[in-house]
Amino acid sequence: MTMQATTFNALVVSEGDDKTYRREIEERSLADLPPGDVVIQVHYSSLNYKDALSASGNKGVTRSYPHTPGIDAAGVVAESTDTRFKPGDEIIVTSYDLGMNTAGGFGQYIRVPADWVVPLPANLTLRESMCYGTAGFTAALSVYQLVAHGLTPDQGEVLVSGASGGVGSIAVAILAKIGFTVAAVNGRKDETAFLKALGAQSVISMEEASDRSGRPLLKGRWAGSVDAVGGEILATTIKSLNSNGVVTCCGNVASPDLPINVYPFILRGAILVGIDSQNCPMDLRRDAWQKLASQWKIPNMEDVVKEIGLNDLNASIESMLAGTHKGRSIVRLT
Ligand SMILES: NC(=O)c1ccc[n+]([C@@H]2O[C@H](COP(=O)([O-])OP(=O)(O)OC[C@H]3O[C@@H](n4cnc5c(N)ncnc54)[C@H](OP(=O)(O)O)[C@@H]3O)[C@@H](O)[C@H]2O)c1
Repeated sequence: MTMQATTFNALVVSEGDDKTYRREIEERSLADLPPGDVVIQVHYSSLNYKDALSASGNKGVTRSYPHTPGIDAAGVVAESTDTRFKPGDEIIVTSYDLGMNTAGGFGQYIRVPADWVVPLPANLTLRESMCYGTAGFTAALSVYQLVAHGLTPDQGEVLVSGASGGVGSIAVAILAKIGFTVAAVNGRKDETAFLKALGAQSVISMEEASDRSGRPLLKGRWAGSVDAVGGEILATTIKSLNSNGVVTCCGNVASPDLPINVYPFILRGAILVGIDSQNCPMDLRRDAWQKLASQWKIPNMEDVVKEIGLNDLNASIESMLAGTHKGRSIVRLT
């Protein structure tokens, strides 16, 4: 079968005249895909918050429609014009522009630049790589930064916010695996049992994690934190860090605002580290994937993951937009 004759299924998001967005499974052809060095048959993708935004017409993520979201893909090289990859190679592609303005992993084929492609590490299956996906990769980058800034388990408790979500749940599990004492922030739905099974020692409510007193500093409580929500919870965490505590910031599901002043930084040496998985350099990217395949590989991944098909994506996207999505949804495309 020639490449041009190959058709495949993809979730296609289209913009209606009334600015509503329709999501349908459509047949596409390889000729519809953008130019690139490597054609990949996608075996698994996964659902991230950014996909939910792209799938609902967020022009900050995706400028023009019709479009196939999916910032994550794991699969097998079907064709490559780049000598680094050959047909049959198992690979991972996450972030860069995949699924944003480049047709993404919610289609059975993608075509991408070779510079976006990460060889699948040994000891990781394609399915396992998408159990992590961008969420797990972001959790790994967050833990990487905590450790790189000197955080060790003996320094005290580490707080994870957005803990029942994709980034948070994997961060809880990695931190617990490497010996940290983890406290998890849990929101609307009680996920205490889930979070404790992942390795959280304690679970606190969003109310407890959000100080509204207006005080610039609070009693030191956390040695470090992985924050996935922003807003008051991140502000409260920074104000509650022990001296020289470190917090990573990757998300804004609660708010993009950060209502703090400089005191935690100048009186306690607080360290705030931004996490940008999209533009993560390739050497760090490969290193983080290697860690996810080895010493940070979490034992209880299946507890975090739900496997769905293209037909189930609509419901999962809605639940993610509503803030009620739990753990990781991986999408099987073969
Ligand atoms: N910077 C990067 O490179 C990068 C990469 C990946 C993701 N992200 C960002 O990280 C964030 C989390 O992504 P995700 O994939 O983990 O999303 P997710 O699966 O939807 O999880 C988010 C979690 O946040 C909590 N939450 C929801 N609404 C909240 C609110 N209003 N206030 C406080 N907590 C709330 C919920 O957990 P509880 O109910 O248990 O509290 C929810 O499970 C998103 O903003 C995403 O865009 C950034």
